Amino acid sequence: MSINPSHPFANIIPTVRADAMAYVVLERRDVEAMSRFLHDFGFTRVEHEGPNVYFRGFGEKPYSVELIPSDRDAFVGFGLVAADGADLDTLGSANGIAPADSEKPGGGRVLHLVDPNGYRIDLVHGFEKAEAYVPREAIDVENTPWKKSRVNAGVRPPLTPAPVEGVRHLVLQTPHFEQTVRWYMQNFGYLPSDMLQTQSGMIGLGFFRFDRGEQPADHHALAISFGPAPEILHISTETIDIDAVGQGQQYLRAQGWEHFWGIGRHVLGSQVFDYWKDPAGDEWEHYADGDVMTADYPVGFHPFDRAGLWAWGDDLPASMRPAGQAPEEAPPPVRELIDAMLVAPRPWLD
Ligand SMILES: [Fe+2]
Repeated sequence: MSINPSHPFANIIPTVRADAMAYVVLERRDVEAMSRFLHDFGFTRVEHEGPNVYFRGFGEKPYSVELIPSDRDAFVGFGLVAADGADLDTLGSANGIAPADSEKPGGGRVLHLVDPNGYRIDLVHGFEKAEAYVPREAIDVENTPWKKSRVNAGVRPPLTPAPVEGVRHLVLQTPHFEQTVRWYMQNFGYLPSDMLQTQSGMIGLGFFRFDRGEQPADHHALAISFGPAPEILHISTETIDIDAVGQGQQYLRAQGWEHFWGIGRHVLGSQVFDYWKDPAGDEWEHYADGDVMTADYPVGFHPFDRAGLWAWGDDLPASMRPAGQAPEEAPPPVRELIDAMLVAPRPWLD
């Protein structure tokens, strides 16, 4: 693991190394409305006994979203796939808990942990994989100024929900930033890909990927942001290509859902993104063409500001900027982050 030796999280020895995102778990008051949203966003419902409702993508995970009927809307937590079944026992021993058989779609075994913010984080293994399928082939850019390989043919992707592979990453906000970063790195072997620092050197946002050795992993499977209270900032899914992001936006607009931010391209991770709000107000991202890194890719350090969050597209929505969320008398670290976010990201923007 080649990490900047001066990095505050450089010497963490992980107990196990998680391999992939499995699912998110949400409580919802209106499961029917949330189910309609997830369908229109590109998920497919999975039949399973019991009151909870499950959705999958076109990848091999038996499910990607679990909805629990509830009298509140809440983010319960998420699941990670273990590379090896023994990892559940190793991590269980280290935390004084035991794995159990899973009664969720796909079965297998599951270990339930609780992170420093009270979220339930599962490690799963041995589930029966769903049959992955290809909704359509990705559209390559074939005609460039130097080469025209598409002749006598147009680009006509269908107007459908953007097919999503599954849940690929999450962004968590926490007032316990350092403790939370340590907890995830120590328990699951997350590697830092990029860190955003304020002028005083405080890290306000970190992007973390799975340590899959020489196998590439998404630039981030988890991002952790310093903020006034624990909160899920968004849940992200990978779709096929940029046209699927665009047609998915057309489809969601036609169904009357609330658009939030995009289409644009991120800087760190390079994803072409589009953000939507679900009926409970949580944010969901479609993305395509994101970066992947092997374990030896070094961590990067960047200024914490709005300018570094997007390469092109509209500015960050006002409600996504911490200035609108934190009290005036915020403690100095929060104040420093707010001030950094208030710097105009482009010469023509406030
Ligand atoms: Fe994202």
